[in-house]
Amino acid sequence: MKKSAFLLISLFAITLFISSCGGGSQPAAEQTTVKATGPYADLPADIQAMMPRGEEIYKTKCTVCHQVTGLGIENVFPPLSKADYLLADKVRAVAQTLNGSKVEMIVNGKKFTTEMTPQVDTKEDAVAVINYVLNNLGNKDGFVTLAEVQGVVIKPRPAQAPAK
Ligand code: HEC
Repeated sequence: MKKSAFLLISLFAITLFISSCGGGSQPAAEQTTVKATGPYADLPADIQAMMPRGEEIYKTKCTVCHQVTGLGIENVFPPLSKADYLLADKVRAVAQTLNGSKVEMIVNGKKFTTEMTPQVDTKEDAVAVINYVLNNLGNKDGFVTLAEVQGVVIKPRPAQAPAK
């Protein structure tokens, strides 16, 4: 009788153990589902759709100066990571990416005067890369839409040397 009571208690304990394990794994499964929708899940679908293009542009065109980290190079290339100047005006950031920039600017308390030449040719590309920047490089700062940059004028590019 004593032995069977012990068995019963053990069985009960094992059942408890197993069911608590089952319960524990459920939230983990839910978390995986949320993660699977990606780091841009909170952004509108059209902004999410431009991220691969933005990433491609950043990695091929911007890293040479602003660095892979977006931290830039002191006194020469301003940071795009947690940059107060960039976050203060997203439309201006798109315009600068399109048309270049040659102004004296204070970014996170440091002065920059080096010139940036035009980096991309279309508003679509400029918006895509700025949205990538706004959601990477340590940033999580919303987005800018094509409609918002409607008023940005693409300046004529410097004349190309005539083909020989
Ligand atoms: C050849 C170097 C170079 C490349 C390549 C370059 N930049 Fe810049 N960038 C600069 C410099 C220099 C400045 C500061 C310009 C000034 O003082 O007017 C700047 C400034 C900026 C700014 C405004 C300053 C800030 O910190 O917010 C933004 C936004 C920006 N760049 C985005 C980009 C993006 C996006 C790309 C890639 C598509 C890019 N840049 C590629 C050199 C570069």
